[in-house]
Amino acid sequence: MTERERRTLTQLVSEPPKFDEPMRYHTTLRVGGPADAFVTVHNLAELQRTMRFAYDHQLPFLVLGEGSNLIVRDGGVRGIVVRLGGELCQIRFDTHEVEVGGGTYLPHLLVKAAQRGLSGLECCTGVPGTVGGALISNAGTAEEFIGNRVRRVQLLTEDGSLRIAERDELQFNYRFSNLRSLGAVVVNVTFDLEPDDPKAVMERIHRRWRYRWETQPVNQPCAGCIFKNPPGDRAGRLIDAAGLKGLRVGDAQVSPIHANFIVNLGNATAKDVLTLAELMRQAVLEKFKVALEYEVQIVGEDA
Ligand code: EPU
Repeated sequence: MTERERRTLTQLVSEPPKFDEPMRYHTTLRVGGPADAFVTVHNLAELQRTMRFAYDHQLPFLVLGEGSNLIVRDGGVRGIVVRLGGELCQIRFDTHEVEVGGGTYLPHLLVKAAQRGLSGLECCTGVPGTVGGALISNAGTAEEFIGNRVRRVQLLTEDGSLRIAERDELQFNYRFSNLRSLGAVVVNVTFDLEPDDPKAVMERIHRRWRYRWETQPVNQPCAGCIFKNPPGDRAGRLIDAAGLKGLRVGDAQVSPIHANFIVNLGNATAKDVLTLAELMRQAVLEKFKVALEYEVQIVGEDA
């Protein structure tokens, strides 16, 4: 980005953009080089202005959620990285429907829904992402997904115009949605939930939380599961059976708790993480003839 582009961008938004911002501050794995510009937009108008600016200047544009399912390479990200804040994180209940901004922190929505006695999102317990991010990758467990509860999605297309996608246009499968082909940013989502006893909903959330605490490295920097489960099997089981738990490249380690997680022991680089991930993929391919597919998103340039 040129100096002039940086100055113009600064005038489009209320919160001053951060330039050359290390992405390791914004990913749960704590790796990643600098973004040319990192912008938090507080309302739809700011988001649209920023998108149109990127579109007109042909600058790459990346929407960041919580960075919890993301590996940013060490050379960082060119163009503009946008986070949705303020009005784009609002939650509005209307009987059993809830309309939620794309930037909303998913655990926050889960608790609010449970308090209202609304069930349907428990499968996302422990997913530390935004609603928009969770929807794009159809987060959940191996069997149940957030997409099952979606009624409609409001999206912005690449040039900054709004469109609504109703349920019948939306496709959700295991860790897949067609949202990226419908638009560039999830502005808000309407979920259809079911009335239930608040205590019962909260108890299901607690049970799932306990399972995650017992089986996943939840208190270490990581990006969730690295690979999708292959049909009929579990990536974690295969990597474990290949004997890779605890394997390290630099400060990146195959979690000794769950083999489909890579944890950052302190100073891992994206290169360490991606080298380790390729070793995992290679080992599973050689031993079990199964080609694992990445579940995490990988973006940016090498250093
Ligand atoms: N297993 C092993 N060794 C391991 C890890 C798992 O043998 O190191 C075995 C377990 O014993 C179990 C089976 O694999 O029999 C499945 O393990 P788990 O219940 O942990 O489920 P998963 O398929 O590995 C999926 C999602 C997780 C989600 C859990 C919650 C995928 C790729 N992963 O994990 O999602 O939290 O279910 O039930 O679908 C994510 O998407 O980032 C993620 C963490």
